Amino acid sequence: MSTRIPPRFPTAALPAPKPAAQGKENDVESECRSSLRSTSVETLQFPLTGDMIEVACGARVCPELVRFIQGKPLASTPFTLKSGRILPSVGLGLWKIPESETAEIVYQAALAGYRHFDCACDYGNEKQVGEGLRRILDDGICRREDLWITSKLWNTFHRPEHVILGVKKTLSDLQLDQLDLYLIHFPIALKFVPIETRYPPGWIYDPSEEHPRMEPDQVPLIETWQAMEELVDAGLVKEIGVSNFGVSLIRELINSARIPPAVLQVELHPFLTQEKLLRFCREAGIVVTAFSPLGAISYVPLGMATPEESLLEHPVINRIAAKHKRTPAQVLLRWGVQRGTSVIVKTTKMARLLENLDLFDFKLSSAEMDEIRSLNISRRYNDPGEFCESAFGTFFPIYE
Ligand SMILES: NC(=O)c1ccc[n+]([C@@H]2O[C@H](COP(=O)([O-])OP(=O)(O)OC[C@H]3O[C@@H](n4cnc5c(N)ncnc54)[C@H](OP(=O)(O)O)[C@@H]3O)[C@@H](O)[C@H]2O)c1
Repeated sequence: MSTRIPPRFPTAALPAPKPAAQGKENDVESECRSSLRSTSVETLQFPLTGDMIEVACGARVCPELVRFIQGKPLASTPFTLKSGRILPSVGLGLWKIPESETAEIVYQAALAGYRHFDCACDYGNEKQVGEGLRRILDDGICRREDLWITSKLWNTFHRPEHVILGVKKTLSDLQLDQLDLYLIHFPIALKFVPIETRYPPGWIYDPSEEHPRMEPDQVPLIETWQAMEELVDAGLVKEIGVSNFGVSLIRELINSARIPPAVLQVELHPFLTQEKLLRFCREAGIVVTAFSPLGAISYVPLGMATPEESLLEHPVINRIAAKHKRTPAQVLLRWGVQRGTSVIVKTTKMARLLENLDLFDFKLSSAEMDEIRSLNISRRYNDPGEFCESAFGTFFPIYE
């Protein structure tokens, strides 16, 4: 096929379709073009097959259009929230990206096709993410409505009167009027630290103390959640959800929530598959996002994992990667997406930005999916019950 629709999916000014006489493919092309002209990307409806699929940037399109755009089929794993909004399956994780590199990486990621960015107050780089986003929008790389921006309420902002402070600071840093998704970062409430005193506040209440400690605060979860619901009412966020929550807490939240959590973001990789949690979320209509989808590698420099635990070196992952002529990282990410979780992956390297998004023209067999799942050893690297005591002077388990 000679003509290509540019990857920004413009909704107007597309060239006229070729004559139908050239065959069925051109009928498909013509249908796709007229749908694109009349509909915004988020609400694309394709009469051809009714089979909605997701492209790398997160737009839903029919398989025919994807083949037309890229010359190859992509994944058929929609991540449709209860509201009908679609969470792009692959996002860029911003944790540990240095401030000095963040704006450029966000910009490069958008050029590479990323539309989903996973931010947080605690990552300390939301201002720089905001600079990157501003450049993306000013340069017309895509429109605001094509982007999915997630951020997270930090532990020190759990009191209802502080939730609004937290989101407003995040919005102002990101240079946005509205977030697509706002998550409670941890089911951990810590004593409030004013923004003027320290931002991001981090885990420790007063770092200048002789024995710095976390200072827990007693805030009922439902009060925090009701303040999150008010953010939706006020139009400051489109969706709300939780992170690092288990089944019992989510169940309790759903029992009292006016707006149920749309998304759960948790650590997921082949050493921590969390099958029951995923099944519960599926049944409750909660879309799940996998953080640290590459496993130990993120935690080795922090002393929270050993290099020997690397999934990227694991013989099973390497054998499957070699068979598909893919990298181990692509197999891990593909496994995550194919099991129905969106994945957020962090990199500071341009080549890896592209590599980590290039997951949609191969498929793992069900035997391979099962073999990777069977690697599970319930190994959790990001466990406050482990790291809070040594790093922040306070024992604070949430999973036991
Ligand atoms: N909600 C929460 O509590 C929570 C907790 C943790 C993480 N998260 C989110 O999830 C995101 C991802 O998790 P994560 O950063 O912990 O881990 P990750 O994305 O699984 O792994 C990141 C590490 O893998 C390396 N890497 C990336 N792509 C690679 C590739 N193709 N081949 C080899 N190495 C590669 C990166 O190094 P380079 O940068 O050098 O490429 C980095 O060391 C975070 O950035 C954050 O947004 C959320």
